[in-house]
Amino acid sequence: MAKEKSHYVCSDCGGSSPKWLGKCPHCNAWNTLVESVAESTVAPTKNRFAALSKTAQVAVLADIEAVDFARTPTGHEELDRVLGGGMVEGGVVLIGGDPGIGKSTLLLQALDSLQRAGQKTLYVTGEESGAQVALRARRLGLDGSQVKVLAEIGLDKILATLDALQPDIAVIDSIQTVYSDQLSSAPGSVAQVRECAAHLTRAAKASGVCIVLVGHVTKEGALAGPRVLEHMVDTVLYFEGDTHSSFRLVRAIKNRFGAVNEIGVFAMTERGLKGVSNPSAIFLSQHAEPVPGSCVMVTLEGTRPMLVEIQALVDSGGPAPRRLSVGLDKDRLAMLLAVLHRHAGVACLDQDVFVNAVGGVRISEPAADLAVLLAITSSLRGKPLPKGFFAFGEIGLAGEVRPAPRGQERLKEAAKLGFSVAVVPKANLPRNLKSKDFEGLTIHPVERVEQALEVVRGI
Ligand code: TYD
Ligand code: MG
Repeated sequence: MAKEKSHYVCSDCGGSSPKWLGKCPHCNAWNTLVESVAESTVAPTKNRFAALSKTAQVAVLADIEAVDFARTPTGHEELDRVLGGGMVEGGVVLIGGDPGIGKSTLLLQALDSLQRAGQKTLYVTGEESGAQVALRARRLGLDGSQVKVLAEIGLDKILATLDALQPDIAVIDSIQTVYSDQLSSAPGSVAQVRECAAHLTRAAKASGVCIVLVGHVTKEGALAGPRVLEHMVDTVLYFEGDTHSSFRLVRAIKNRFGAVNEIGVFAMTERGLKGVSNPSAIFLSQHAEPVPGSCVMVTLEGTRPMLVEIQALVDSGGPAPRRLSVGLDKDRLAMLLAVLHRHAGVACLDQDVFVNAVGGVRISEPAADLAVLLAITSSLRGKPLPKGFFAFGEIGLAGEVRPAPRGQERLKEAAKLGFSVAVVPKANLPRNLKSKDFEGLTIHPVERVEQALEVVRGI
């Protein structure tokens, strides 16, 4: 293949420059030029999108037969759950997470089960040698595994191998190590990651192989490389969780073939990752007696309710008090403190406020608001919430407590686990309170923040 000429494109204004400059000559923005391959140098017959144009025919929507995607279960129930049922032919999955969290482990386990189920698999490793992968496989108890391994980082060689082997499922571990010699920038640079991912995605769509790309995460928690990677692929999964705890969560951030925000829960064991089929209660720290600053909530992201303990610590701060949150939205914390002050008259102005979702789980849904607020006031007053207590509900700027979606399911799950007292939004109060599902549960419905605090004081 003729070497394509590279140039630099501004990621802000789209203007181009033949060489790299610190400042875009068109819009004067700093540090926005990114290396790119000049498409005009590619002969039309070697069009980079040739593989796609073959299938481009105009049709009336009603005439197109709607076929459901054939899914191949990976044999790991929790992984299948986040994938929306299994691997999809021609689908591209991006899986991101901190180093050492278990990406390579999980994918090697999944490939082995798929291979045993009769699929053709390929594991491309750019980070470790074949020997290291073999060592991990032994450790995982995958002796005699028939998974094919290729230790390679050159894009052309990887594409050629995919073409020759025609696997059903291929894992590229990781996309940051793959490089194309069309570009002069180093592997892992924005331009390389984008270019290589685009080629691999095209190969997947053209040949029907399902490709899983492993991606590294930066300190800030975003995938290293451009966001555009997330747009290119069909499914984006993120590993969450605390590397110090043995639990790992895999969350679907985007899924063209299934529900988003679905969560798979795994435990890291001596023999790799094992699915946790009933994860309801793993995000609760086991206090013998209730302690101040702790409130349990029921979160429902995806299809499965889970109980998570929210912890807060309010302590006298300096002239610039700190607000810190782990696993919860920081801006939302500032908003909740303002609501607490204005509508309930509880001030934390000169106090440091720390909040934390136990177990490294990240909660993005606003239904956590009420529990965060109650944990904060509990810590501020030094008074624990009662035993068996939980709360959920969104809080608005006007001090109102808004219903959480699918409140009944949340209540049922907590009742099932033996929780007995709840403060929830009035609109979430079940009509059939007498039902067996809510047996042993006392529910206090509230409409406003000040009312919720009042109720808690009186319990
Ligand atoms: P790994 O899959 O290499 O992480 P990533 O590819 O995301 O960087 O994760 C390896 C970690 O998991 C490592 O810290 C050791 C641990 N581990 C186990 O606890 N049990 C096992 O069976 C294996 C293979 C790894
Ligand atoms: Mg790895």
